[in-house]
Amino acid sequence: MKHQRAILRDVEGYVPGEQPRMPNIIKLNTNENPYPPSPRVIEALRGLSTEALRKYPDPVSMDFRAECATRYGYPGPEWVIAGNGMDELLALAVRAFVDPGDTILTTYPTYTLYETLARLHGARPVLVDLDDDFQLTEAFFKTPARLCILPRPNAPTGVCPPREAVERLCTTFNGIVVIDEAYVDFSDDNCMDFAMRFDNAIVMRTFSKSFSLAGMRIGTGVAQPRIIDEFLKVKDSYNLNAFSQAAGLAAMQDYGYMLANVAKIRATRDRLTTALRGLGFRVPASQSNFVLAQWNGRPAADEIFRALRARAIIVRYFPARRLENALRITVGTDEETDALLAALRAITA
Ligand SMILES: Cc1ncc(COP(=O)(O)O)c(C=O)c1O
Repeated sequence: MKHQRAILRDVEGYVPGEQPRMPNIIKLNTNENPYPPSPRVIEALRGLSTEALRKYPDPVSMDFRAECATRYGYPGPEWVIAGNGMDELLALAVRAFVDPGDTILTTYPTYTLYETLARLHGARPVLVDLDDDFQLTEAFFKTPARLCILPRPNAPTGVCPPREAVERLCTTFNGIVVIDEAYVDFSDDNCMDFAMRFDNAIVMRTFSKSFSLAGMRIGTGVAQPRIIDEFLKVKDSYNLNAFSQAAGLAAMQDYGYMLANVAKIRATRDRLTTALRGLGFRVPASQSNFVLAQWNGRPAADEIFRALRARAIIVRYFPARRLENALRITVGTDEETDALLAALRAITA
């Protein structure tokens, strides 16, 4: 499976070491934030003493978790787990709550890591197809499993199931429900209150997208303390380094900076969506910092992907069922978006 993930990385158009040779690359393939992180994060990193390098970091990231609890409206750090990116927390959830041979429920299409984690653990992934509008179906709610992972909004579609649907899932599902809110800061609403209301819900967030900190690897999970205890039992001793803890804390303390960047990205997203529809793409309304642009014309979507790449514009193409006629495009700056649209106009003319 590790080998398979390496191949996927190449398919997505990211070649390590390529960027120095292509300095003007417009990178719209992994949903990073085009704006820099808060200046307070940079200050916090510069302010770390050499002692912070010499000594081990706090193994349980207490200050950072306490700040997150306050911001998310929870009683204290015992409701929050910190991870080395949300990907680590997803892996820990599988390690903590799933035995080999168990089933893990998610949708199709969705974030491919869920299936990879299930297989690596010897569990059985059950991927229930979304409907034509990429919404949940009755079959999804009727499928039993040990663990359910539901991204809201979903990737790569950008579509959000209604809050009521997640409520129904948490009420009826006989197991742990992970609500993956990696992109939720770009959405109209969220399910952060669900960890208080449902004893089987874990709400996960990442600092890679809205906080512009993908390079730092910071994720959080919010759940009832008995669930958080299970994460603490299976995590590596020092899963967040001193820099990540300091950066996460400073980013949380400058929440307004993140919200201002999100507002800019949402405005660009809406402009991008309208322009793509004008070019003939079908674009499901996105609640995220990327859009899925579906295309049934000529040249085919994979050819558009390669033509963009030749112009040093990298988007994401999935050679997979229901996605082979689509491109997933990260919302960049206004200038990057203009360059992308100009290129698409030329390629599809
Ligand atoms: C749906 C979804 N969940 C989780 C993640 C992981 O985020 P992180 O960078 O915190 O590992 C991603 C990253 O792209 C994602 O798309």
